[in-house]
Amino acid sequence: MFWTSFILWATCCQSLASAHAKILPPANGEEIFINNNGVTLHYRKYGCGPYLVLQHGFPDRETTFADFQVPAFAQSYTVLTPTLRGYPPSSVPPEAADYGPDYLVSDLAAILDHENTTTATVIGHDFGGAVVQYFSLYHPERVEAMVMMNTPPFATFVPLINFDKEAQEYARYTIPYYTYKPGQPKNISTLVENIRNTTYRAEIAAYLEASPIDGMLHYYSANYPGPPYEQNTSVSGYVQKVPSMLLWGVEDVYFSPKMLDGLEGFYNKGIRLVTVPGAGHWVFRDDWQRSNEEIWSFLKTVLRL
Ligand SMILES: *[C@@H]1O[C@H](CO)[C@@H](O)[C@H](O)[C@H]1NC(C)=O
Ligand SMILES: *[C@@H]1O[C@H](CO)[C@@H](O)[C@H](O)[C@H]1NC(C)=O
Ligand SMILES: *[C@@H]1O[C@H](CO)[C@@H](O)[C@H](O)[C@H]1NC(C)=O
Ligand SMILES: *[C@@H]1O[C@H](CO)[C@@H](O)[C@H](O)[C@H]1NC(C)=O
Repeated sequence: MFWTSFILWATCCQSLASAHAKILPPANGEEIFINNNGVTLHYRKYGCGPYLVLQHGFPDRETTFADFQVPAFAQSYTVLTPTLRGYPPSSVPPEAADYGPDYLVSDLAAILDHENTTTATVIGHDFGGAVVQYFSLYHPERVEAMVMMNTPPFATFVPLINFDKEAQEYARYTIPYYTYKPGQPKNISTLVENIRNTTYRAEIAAYLEASPIDGMLHYYSANYPGPPYEQNTSVSGYVQKVPSMLLWGVEDVYFSPKMLDGLEGFYNKGIRLVTVPGAGHWVFRDDWQRSNEEIWSFLKTVLRL
């Protein structure tokens, strides 16, 4: 499958390259809606070549990658930017149980199936990083490579948050998320306060103002280890079987950096950790040049370029 998609890539992108000095994807991509067992999923598609998924997190939307990543990667990849369930214009299923790992994996599988591609490279930020980790665990044969960006790597995060007071303090902001009900104050200015780019911060604030946030917060109830802490949380047997990278803006205020220690034992195709000084939670926006360079450098080893 890998070589099939590689040959398609060569044909598609090289023929375009000979016709145009620089290949630019359509500005807003192609907008696609699919139905996965009654849940509408929205995504955009850009460029040509093997598949690359850029998965947004919270509080964000798929346009977060349009400024800096899509123009770079759509020259060599078919880039998909899915809108997670719970985020309009995708459906917002009502129950926390609708946001468990099986559903999140099924959504990404449905998108790749709709594209008729067996495999993809998957990149995820924040809760999008949880999605790409689940997907790689469930379907390692469908993943060429995985890049996590400022998202807790499960194997070190789960024991850390359960047994480290400082990590529990970092997670204090999540406590109201478990009990939020539609109609309660959304506290949007707090949600977006760490988006450094003021133009983009205003865009996301307006999006959250116009959108229900209960689905977005259900991700926490369904996936994020919360109180009561200090339970027996064994991660024995957790092994990622795909080439993996973790890109980390070191000024992230949401997560204890202690979870960056001890990753090596959990990735049997290797884990490349890249820390980016001066960048915060939105590492791929805060220092997009460095982020893109590091991701490219990693992906070239996977593509053997
Ligand atoms: C996927 O395959 C089906 C059946 O051959 C076809 O109708 C559809 O256009 C293909 N989709 C894409 C995105 O190539
Ligand atoms: C919003 O802020 C109020 C007042 O600080 C707090 O009680 C509530 O839990 C917050 N809700 C969310 C969703 O953060
Ligand atoms: C800030 O965000 C806007 C909207 O996404 C974008 O067009 C602009 O390039 C960004 N500026 C910087 C310096 O990142
Ligand atoms: C913790 O959980 C693991 C996996 O479920 C189990 O094998 C182990 O016996 C448990 N340890 C304790 C002390 O309960």
